[in-house]
Amino acid sequence: MTNGKCENGNTSNALMTKILLDYDIQRYNFHDWARNVLGTKELENAHCSRNIKNLNRSPTVNQLAESFSDVSEIYHSLISDFLSEIYGEISTYQSPPSFRFHYIGLGCSIFHSDRDFGVEQGRMNVWVPLTDVWGSNSLWIESEEGAGDYAPVSMHLGQALIFDGVNIGHGSKINTTSASRISFDFRFEPGPGPATPTSY
Ligand SMILES: [Fe+2]
Repeated sequence: MTNGKCENGNTSNALMTKILLDYDIQRYNFHDWARNVLGTKELENAHCSRNIKNLNRSPTVNQLAESFSDVSEIYHSLISDFLSEIYGEISTYQSPPSFRFHYIGLGCSIFHSDRDFGVEQGRMNVWVPLTDVWGSNSLWIESEEGAGDYAPVSMHLGQALIFDGVNIGHGSKINTTSASRISFDFRFEPGPGPATPTSY
């Protein structure tokens, strides 16, 4: 099921700083769920709905966070099926995840490393766009810690990116593409289980 690609070509889990995963959108149907919750057929046109924009402005206060219990089971399956396969035991994982709405004409987050905000070493980030992402509607990431060469990741629905957000700089720009981006992200920490839910 997993199709992990280690972008730095190193197979040592400890050194994997970026991994791109492919997942089955029929089994992990976050996309269809989000469309139903938001009442739109095309998530990339979320900016066209005043109702969606009014109700979804924060990573924690939004319609998807409110309805997260609908998909909590497949969310936990995603973690156990993918992360455990790559990293072995998982010590902690964020639940619920943070949902983000990157509308056309707006930004989404500043450039930062999560350690700037006190996130402990050892935690990894998982970024799951529910729309195709490219250019300025995507997440911009350094190639390696401290490089400063921020570039957008191009991904399509059905992919997830694991990266070391504690140390690798990342952020977003004003979305000048023709599509809004909706995504969710969470952190986890490899280590002795049982996996315990955490708030960040
Ligand atoms: Fe971050």
